[in-house]
Amino acid sequence: MSIILKNKFQADCMREAGKVVFHVHEALEKAIKPGITTKELDDICAQCLKEHGAISSFFGYEGSFGAGPYPGNACISLNEEVIHGLPGLRKLRSGDIVSIDVGAYKNGFHGDAARTYIVGDVLEEDKKLIRVTEESFFKGLEFVKPGKRLYEVSGAIQDYIQSNGFSVVRDYVGHGIGKALHESPEIPNYRPKDKGGGVRLVPGMTLAIEPMVNTGVYAVKVLDDLWTVVTKDGKNSAHYENTVLVTDGEPEILTML
Ligand code: MF3
Ligand code: CO
Repeated sequence: MSIILKNKFQADCMREAGKVVFHVHEALEKAIKPGITTKELDDICAQCLKEHGAISSFFGYEGSFGAGPYPGNACISLNEEVIHGLPGLRKLRSGDIVSIDVGAYKNGFHGDAARTYIVGDVLEEDKKLIRVTEESFFKGLEFVKPGKRLYEVSGAIQDYIQSNGFSVVRDYVGHGIGKALHESPEIPNYRPKDKGGGVRLVPGMTLAIEPMVNTGVYAVKVLDDLWTVVTKDGKNSAHYENTVLVTDGEPEILTML
């Protein structure tokens, strides 16, 4: 599959979708507190998407995971859950960290962003995990420029995470994004072995860069619900993602205002 470049009009559409994702995260951040259920957060996500003329990119999504259509609006993953946590009756508790991944589909284009939030009082180690995960995205972003190669981005993310004592999930990666939620290229958060330097970046590429970072080992497994991905060692994990447009100059983060 080749990489689909976006023209000015298409980039505008993606800005629109990206803005919606940003607003949904604002609403979620405000709502997060001990006692709220992940289903209630999912409802807030659905409501906010609707208010902005969008629908969830994830609801009904048929992954390549053999799990059937995705049953939620957002992916809500607590503590040792890495990604694809299913909204349900579980209540947030003080001390939890909660990763929420939001995708908005509007006017034919997708925006996609994830954040990890703290609930009440959280261990210093978990705060550091969240901070390093976010910072690793921005380390990678420094290489999102025309002429750079994709795995320079990947490598910068990996180096930053590992130099802070954490590990990088290998089994799931970021992705191109546009009319489809998942487009070429795959964007690993580590230097892939024996694959060279990766494609050269050019203006018009739209990329969802999304480091998934574990406190302990990088290995993960999928639960019996066939969706929820957890760390193998049960230690906590964080996720940070933005949709980014490659331009002639600095990259533009479409899911931040
Ligand atoms: N944001 C995630 C991704 O980019 C979640 C998609 S999985 C879904 O792959 F099934 F929920 F859509
Ligand atoms: Co994504």
